[in-house]
Amino acid sequence: MLQIQNNFPLKDLNTFHFDVYASSYIKTNSTEDLRTWITETKPDINRLLVLGGGSNILFTKDYPGIIFHPSFDDITILEKKNDEVLIEAGAGKTWDEFVEYCVENSHYGVENLSLIPGTVGAAPVQNIGAYGSEAKDVISKVNGIFLDTGKEFSLENRECNFGYRNSIFKNELKNRILITSVVFRLSTKENYNLKYGHLEERVKEFGDINLRNVRQAVTAIRSAKLPDPDKTGNAGSFFKNPEIPASLFRDLQTKYPDMPGYDLNNGTFKVPAGWLIDKAGWKGKTVGNAGVHRDQSLVLTNTGNATGRDILSLAASIENDIKNKFGITLEKEVIVI
Ligand code: EPU
Repeated sequence: MLQIQNNFPLKDLNTFHFDVYASSYIKTNSTEDLRTWITETKPDINRLLVLGGGSNILFTKDYPGIIFHPSFDDITILEKKNDEVLIEAGAGKTWDEFVEYCVENSHYGVENLSLIPGTVGAAPVQNIGAYGSEAKDVISKVNGIFLDTGKEFSLENRECNFGYRNSIFKNELKNRILITSVVFRLSTKENYNLKYGHLEERVKEFGDINLRNVRQAVTAIRSAKLPDPDKTGNAGSFFKNPEIPASLFRDLQTKYPDMPGYDLNNGTFKVPAGWLIDKAGWKGKTVGNAGVHRDQSLVLTNTGNATGRDILSLAASIENDIKNKFGITLEKEVIVI
């Protein structure tokens, strides 16, 4: 199936809920039909964008090209061997439904990534991560199709160049491919990752340590701190956590002894951007309908009818202030269109 619609509203397809339109919108769950369409149409790849759940994107204007929305959503067990299972999930499957499926079926490895908005296909693009786990730890392969030639590809984990909120799909392959499915390698043997913060204690509040309770604890932590995008438009963390030279980190710690930092053991420290923005006094502030979330300063919100430009302008003020106060340049995590 391949559905094409023109002048398509994106308000429900971006979690900031900006009222923008795409010149064309193509929804597909067939690699075959997509390949035929590509070879017949020979589209201009500079005017193509793939949109999953729209949970990491900021539209500043209407999109003057074609937006693809993959709707492949099958889950298939490819292989069960020793203590591992290989599962292929369609790119259009809602990420949290995939996590629920894994928890339900006692497949270990994605439970810490519960409640992250978006789709399976978006998970490798920015290598989603939370509470000490990252998608790259469990991804075996990423399958997709080139949007210029219609050729299919299958990339092994090591070929995806995964980094912190980064991958080949945000760089060399940006806007050139559409991911159709992701193959995950999960454990069928009990195996938890509870080292992050107070996660283990939070799990125990729900009872024994098991997959269901880890999922519940992570869901509770996220729900308490992060605004529900269906109620208040947002795209999760707006900025990446910056990595700064150890010398700068030590200077800042003398001035701010409570400043958190994670030693990356390569001469740099990763510091929470949320802490910097909070310390600079932005927490809970609003400028018009653009706001800094009251419980987690790393999240910028659309509290009413803000536009992408309103949010960007608030982000620019924050970036300048953080540069002036701490000498640190913040980098956006969201993709700006
Ligand atoms: N902090 C503050 N004030 C704030 C926010 C945070 O002081 O307003 C402090 C916290 O007290 C804590 C530290 O900063 O000491 C870290 O905060 P938190 O555990 O909330 O995590 P984070 O570094 O702010 C990252 C990810 C989140 C992920 C959490 C949990 C990035 C950019 N963000 O946030 O990912 O859920 O860790 O693992 O790496 C996302 O990418 O959209 C996202 C939500």
